[in-house]
Formats: sequence, C-alpha cells, structure tokens
Amino acid sequence: MAPRVRTTARTDDGTAAAIVPPDAGIDDLRAAAAGCRACDLWARGTQTVFGAGAEGARMLFVGEQPGDEEDRRGAPFVGPAGKLLDRALAEAGIDRRAVYVTNVVKHFKWVPKGKRRIHSKPSGREIRACKPWLEAEIEAVRPDVVVCLGATAAQALLGASFKVTERRGELIDAEGRRAAATVHPSSVLRAQDDESRRAAYAAFVDDLRRVVAALGRC
Ligand code: URA
Repeated sequence: MAPRVRTTARTDDGTAAAIVPPDAGIDDLRAAAAGCRACDLWARGTQTVFGAGAEGARMLFVGEQPGDEEDRRGAPFVGPAGKLLDRALAEAGIDRRAVYVTNVVKHFKWVPKGKRRIHSKPSGREIRACKPWLEAEIEAVRPDVVVCLGATAAQALLGASFKVTERRGELIDAEGRRAAATVHPSSVLRAQDDESRRAAYAAFVDDLRRVVAALGRC
C-alpha cells in the first residue's frame, strides 16, 4: 500500500489558524500557506499567492485578493493594479522594494466568462478563513503602518462599518496598531473616463502622501 503523504492542510475551525506556524518568519509562513485548504478557493486558484516584500518594512499594504496575473505568477500586485500601485508609490516617494505587499485572501476567486477568468469578490467566510495568514504576516513584518487598499481590506482589518470614503488617507489607531486606508488601485483603473481616472489617481497619490507625512510626525 502506498504511504499516506500529508500534502494538504485542512483545518477544523474553518480558518487557517491551526496551520499557521507560530512566531514564524515570512518564508516559513509562505511555505505553510502553499498547502492551505482552509476554504475552497485553493481548488479554483493556480496557487497560493502569499505576500512579498521587505521583512521589517515600515509600510505593509493589503489588497483584496490576487488577480488573474498574480494567480499565474504567484506574486501579489504584479498585474495592471500592481503597476498602477508602483507608479503611485513612486510619486508619493515610497520605494516599492522597501514595502511589504499582500492581500486579505491569498487565492484568486474567479468565474469564467468565455475564455476569461473574471474576478469574483471573496465571501466573509473566505476572508475569515484566510485572516490568520494576514495577522501572521503583520506580526512577522511589524510595520509602522498597515495600509488597506480598498473596502475589503479596510473592513477586514478595521471593522465592517469602516468607510474608506470617509476616512481615506487618515492615520488610524486600530487596537494599538497604526493603520490607514485608501482606495484600491483597481478602482482607479475602472474610472469611467480619462478625466475621472486622472482625478482618482491624483487622490490616491495624495492619500499615500498624507500617510507618509503623518508617519513622519509620529
Ligand atoms: N488586486 C489585489 O487586491 N491584489 C492583487 O494582488 C492584485 C490585484
């Protein structure tokens, strides 16, 4: 009889908590997350897309979930939204190589549309399942500020009633952790026309600049 090899990581409480290695660095967390099956999204995505960047970064950025390109390449924010993020970070004086970038949910959730894979919003259950990975990343990186990109990240970390539109660009004390929220770079790309896209982009860069300035004053 073939030996039973444990290649998957199922969990009892419906979250990844039981399989997150305690006090682990990013490389060990990434290795453990590669086999995560805390929710069903592992079956739909190509691979777990764990966070990436500088361990010890002062700024940790959190998006919603990997997109199509991130799913194929296995790295966060490397597709169109990531390119816009890179440009905005540079304009705000932030070096992408000096930050850590991740997502609330580490698998790409999508539905087919012809030959395309269309982004589908993660459910509350999927967000809860994945959250222990994000908490462990924050613990390992210990950033000065966690910057939430968009409502999914902001509500996962700052509470379900948090409104990005009302508090964007503000430095917030969230249970002893410094956080901030701004729009998701994809929302800038989705703007209706060039003029509104330019305005949305300028407001996004402005939020990032405000966070950097506020951090400087801390
Ligand atoms: N959108 C996200 O929220 N995260 C990515 O990594 C890419 C697109």
